[in-house]
Amino acid sequence: MPTLAPYKASEDVYVLPSYLRVPDVAVPGFGLLVVNSYLIKGREPILIDTGMPIVKEEFLETLWSLIDPQDLNWILLTHDDGDHTGALIEVLEAAPQARVVTQFVGMARLETAHHLPVDRFEIRNPGDTLTISGRELAVLRPPLFDSPATSAYFDVKSGVLFSADSFGAIIPELAENVGDVPKSAYDEGFSIFNRLNHPWFHLVDQGKFEESIERVRRLQPTAIGSCHSPLATGTQVETHLKALAALPAQGALDLPDQAALEGILAQMQVNGD
Ligand SMILES: [Fe+2]
Ligand SMILES: [Fe+2]
Repeated sequence: MPTLAPYKASEDVYVLPSYLRVPDVAVPGFGLLVVNSYLIKGREPILIDTGMPIVKEEFLETLWSLIDPQDLNWILLTHDDGDHTGALIEVLEAAPQARVVTQFVGMARLETAHHLPVDRFEIRNPGDTLTISGRELAVLRPPLFDSPATSAYFDVKSGVLFSADSFGAIIPELAENVGDVPKSAYDEGFSIFNRLNHPWFHLVDQGKFEESIERVRRLQPTAIGSCHSPLATGTQVETHLKALAALPAQGALDLPDQAALEGILAQMQVNGD
């Protein structure tokens, strides 16, 4: 199944990765969409997102190999999409201390799929700050998002920005760091993912869009931990901010059509998939 060994993003921040093979819309063939959750260890451990439903069992096995369920205090949701909330109910059942942080509309949207223990929810909105055992996490709306309930979280201690879907990329091969992916393939996969997943991107006022990117820049993140990309660290942070700002000028993406689907199916037959 598409799960991978966890790895460290910083001293006490772990990436819990999995991935999906996805059709590449630019060239015939397939790319990889990584789906990351994160665990911040500390006096009050924090889980950010709960993986994809199709790898629920594997996700839980990985998570509980890193932490005792009794010790987990917080689940911060970047948003309510299925690939971020796959094991939410199971984690809540196993971890009786854990409380869920999301926006009100995120909780409401989750209620269409789950019977939620709403008394275990904490509503936090962009602009709020969470202080967890002295550790500050700023809540912000990332520059691009595909759910009205999207919150990115900036962890002041580690400097990691957990950016939800924003800054994701379709990549040709698995990697833990953006620098391990061939640059031209990464740049193309970044452009396609962000334009496809956030189809309103080309309608933005460029100046206001860049203001939202500037708000991220002012945080001076040491790393961008997207839920859909390897880690971007060091100078890659600025490269990502600039790459996002350049998207509106690229214009709307031609959406894959029925012919694209048939091409993919034919390709799968050739490959014996
Ligand atoms: Fe999403
Ligand atoms: Fe996502």
